[in-house]
Amino acid sequence: MAGSMSIAPWRDAESECDLLDPEQNYMPTINKSLLSVSQLCPPVEVGWGALASPASHLKNFSYQLSGVSLQVKQIEEQLTSLRTSLVCAFNQLLDLKDLNTGVHSTRLAEWALHVGGELGLSESDQSDLEVAALLHDIGKVGIPDAILNKPGKLSNEEYELMKKHPEFGWAVLHQVPGMERASLLILHHHERIDGKGYPAGLRGEEIPIGSRIVCAIDAFDAMVSNRPYRKGLPFEEAIRRLASDSGTQFDASVAKHFIPLARAEISAVFAAAGTSVSTVL
Ligand SMILES: [Fe+2]
Repeated sequence: MAGSMSIAPWRDAESECDLLDPEQNYMPTINKSLLSVSQLCPPVEVGWGALASPASHLKNFSYQLSGVSLQVKQIEEQLTSLRTSLVCAFNQLLDLKDLNTGVHSTRLAEWALHVGGELGLSESDQSDLEVAALLHDIGKVGIPDAILNKPGKLSNEEYELMKKHPEFGWAVLHQVPGMERASLLILHHHERIDGKGYPAGLRGEEIPIGSRIVCAIDAFDAMVSNRPYRKGLPFEEAIRRLASDSGTQFDASVAKHFIPLARAEISAVFAAAGTSVSTVL
């Protein structure tokens, strides 16, 4: 039927698709890349046979590409949802291990995001920071309760085991797709600016900014919180230590942005820490 028309279809040996005769100048610009595309597209019915032009092949390919893009977007949304569920599950695990730690992590995440925002972290870095702040102590699941809740000072051996918790946390989280960078922030959340921290002894900007944020905020929160073996420090004393240790233990810019936030949230801090504001001020 097509042969009775002035446009005779011819079959490209490589693509197995019906194309228009280039000698009649109906498709003078067809090239190898279009033939490759056409291989992906079935012929389009045009009323008088299975004749398809490169334009219709491209249109078809474009439709298929849109479908693939939609599927990729849906998979990305499912992965994000899965990661959120995993973070919630891990956070509940922290609650089961030690309720105070779970609440402490949630508070830490809010402060960390505030400081991260002021320091101009990207959306992606903020996302990693939030996970790291929420789960920074997930590795403590691997520390015996007798050490975690010991009322007195830890022995050297116990302290060495306690110092393993950043590595334990990294070991768990780096296996989760999408949490690799957050697991690195967790690995380094006990480093110090002067290089005297652990586990790697990183210095200054060698330490990821997310780890530096979690480190300072975690230390401040620990200072004002009651522990089985000691009472929380007064607010002003904790602020004084945070400021005096800026540049040695803590990142100076992190402390500079965090101290005003701590002052603004003092009531919430002490309510959550189980300490009376009136007795510590
Ligand atoms: Fe920690």
